[in-house]
Amino acid sequence: MISIAVIGTGYVGLVTAVCFAEKDFKVICVDKDKCKIDNLSNGIMPIYENGLKEMCESNYQRKKIFFTTDIKYAIENTDVIFIAVGTPSLNSGEADLSQVIEVANEIKEYINNYKVIVNKSTVPVGTQKIVKSIMKTNKNNINFDVVSNPEFLKEGTAINDTLNAERIVIGCDSYKSEEYMRRIYERFDSEKLVVSAETAEMIKYASNVFLALKVTYINEIANICELTGANVIDVAKGMGLDSRISGKFLNAGVGFGGACFPKDVLAIYSLAKSVGYEFKLSKAVLEVNEKQKLKPYEKLMEVMNNNLKGKTIAVLGLAFKPGTDDMRGAPSIIIINKLLEKGAKVKAYDPEAIKNAKKIFGSRIGFYTEVYETIKYADAIIILTEWNEIKFMNLEEALTLVKNKLIIDGRNCIDSVNAMKLGYYYLGIGVPDSSYDNILSKEVAVDYD
Ligand code: UGA
Repeated sequence: MISIAVIGTGYVGLVTAVCFAEKDFKVICVDKDKCKIDNLSNGIMPIYENGLKEMCESNYQRKKIFFTTDIKYAIENTDVIFIAVGTPSLNSGEADLSQVIEVANEIKEYINNYKVIVNKSTVPVGTQKIVKSIMKTNKNNINFDVVSNPEFLKEGTAINDTLNAERIVIGCDSYKSEEYMRRIYERFDSEKLVVSAETAEMIKYASNVFLALKVTYINEIANICELTGANVIDVAKGMGLDSRISGKFLNAGVGFGGACFPKDVLAIYSLAKSVGYEFKLSKAVLEVNEKQKLKPYEKLMEVMNNNLKGKTIAVLGLAFKPGTDDMRGAPSIIIINKLLEKGAKVKAYDPEAIKNAKKIFGSRIGFYTEVYETIKYADAIIILTEWNEIKFMNLEEALTLVKNKLIIDGRNCIDSVNAMKLGYYYLGIGVPDSSYDNILSKEVAVDYD
């Protein structure tokens, strides 16, 4: 049976390792961070991800997964080594490969027999070659292969995305390594695509950047809808009925966040530039997205006549999307900072991200784990993450708590018709209030006291 090492216990590394263990492989998970490794051995997860803790614990008990800081042990005792370390953005926008290179050097140092080394980290085209060139200098001239096997999991549904992946992309340049990868992934009922390493590396970037582009496209359409009276929710529905377009990733909102889209859009721009091509679309995506993040704030300023001094603003949702405690790239960061700058008092709610948000805002804002406590005495509610607790909050009960009946819905996620019927002044993204004129007029709904 093939034994597996996974180096790096970040989102991708940990979920991948746990899923391989679930598929009955023996997996050694390595991280330099001793505290993280001790915690994992005691069932404490470094991230919130639905189902991860339970699956990790059960496989730990079945002795299918182990956690260690000892990379030498892991390399010597496994056949296939997955590199799943971080590749953050450098100031130049390029992906920082230093952690990948460091791990490659360690594998080179401790390699004791044939190994398949697999890049799971998101890396620029050409990285497989870089890792190969490092491995070629191993002192006993031991044989190896380097494979690119990009990850497509989404935070919040990571376990299901891995166990039931729509596609598994294997980029390799030898039959031997292809055979190893096929033997691992034969346990996954997914479409497999075997291509060159460069192609696999490009598939990952091209996919993420396309999705970021799709979200950005609908956000720009939303902005035009606001100026023309069209309703972006219905526009997206109409577009999505065309199977060539598909309705997925067509939810207009406050812009994309997370660790991947912003980083990968930047990285592909730098990658293209390094080979003499200006990828104009990717640059535009980032520019539009940064502007989009400010939309709810701009709407609030307009309603409040540019004066937020002393106003209490309830921010519902801090994580960059539901199902995760991840604050990286979250629009909430930029919006809350703006609100504070303008002298507002911010009360913030999130079911999972408060611990991480505290590291960013400290005591500058109030944190709440209950929606109704958060909106008490609020002059305005701003919705930034479509958690179910927010989407389905009881708007009638909320009426008795808020000071002003003003909701700015940065995710178009609550029942806006009901909100308006109840007397709220509701502002979504790309949903001009004129489309609701028959239900309630803006003047009636707003209470400016
Ligand atoms: C993304 C990709 O979807 C994964 O396939 C990929 O593996 C991952 O990056 C990665 O490279 O590791 P993730 O960052 O977890 O996954 O989040 P998404 O679900 O893709 O959402 C990204 C952002 O787009 C979020 O801020 C979300 O709120 C926003 N979004 C998404 C919209 O604003 N509208 C939509 O219709 C969809």
